[in-house]
Amino acid sequence: MKRIYSSHWSDYELIDAGNDKKIERFGNTILIRPDRNAYFSPILSQKEWKQKAHFEFIEETSSKGIWKTLKQNTPKEWQINYKGCVFNLRLTKFKHIGVFPEQQSNWDFIKTQLCCTEPFEEKKFLNLFAYTGGASLIANSAGANVFHCDSVKQIISWSKENMESSNQSDIRWVFDDALKFATKEVKGKKNMMV
Ligand SMILES: C[S@@+](CC[C@H](N)C(=O)[O-])C[C@H]1O[C@@H](n2cnc3c(N)ncnc32)[C@H](O)[C@@H]1O
Repeated sequence: MKRIYSSHWSDYELIDAGNDKKIERFGNTILIRPDRNAYFSPILSQKEWKQKAHFEFIEETSSKGIWKTLKQNTPKEWQINYKGCVFNLRLTKFKHIGVFPEQQSNWDFIKTQLCCTEPFEEKKFLNLFAYTGGASLIANSAGANVFHCDSVKQIISWSKENMESSNQSDIRWVFDDALKFATKEVKGKKNMMV
């Protein structure tokens, strides 16, 4: 089995984890969020976590919650960059902020695979359950013809914003259920929102 490790990313850092939470830095903004995988004890004290963080997500139900401000006047919308791909981040009531940084090694894998493609081969990339488009942006930057499928309209708009902020173009937006879209494609029908 080959282990794949994430490389250094100046705009992201997992600072600490434990007690069912994690503390992460996205650019200059530090967040505390619940994480069931952090079942162990953290290295830093709770006091140190609170001193560092700008916002903490407080769960109200299993799927929603609110962001508690720990440092006043911190912008609630900001940007981070990965290899020229720009993510517009914002604090959503679902705990997520517009990027899953644990996907970084997958993005690197995608880029390597696309860059290895023979020049005469057509580079096509289908991103299902595509969220805000990390994989789409990376594949597009590697010269692929990208189809980005998500069933939530606001998420497609957010992805378009990221494409524009990254000075990219020509991603094909597919607003559809992933399984329905894939089934239609297999049957040769197309339903694309460009
Ligand atoms: C957890 S996120 C995926 C994160 C993504 N893999 C990444 O690396 O950033 C799940 C995404 O799938 C979308 N989604 C959920 N059900 C879907 C469906 N049936 N068809 C298409 N997209 C769907 C959601 O709107 C959301 O954007």
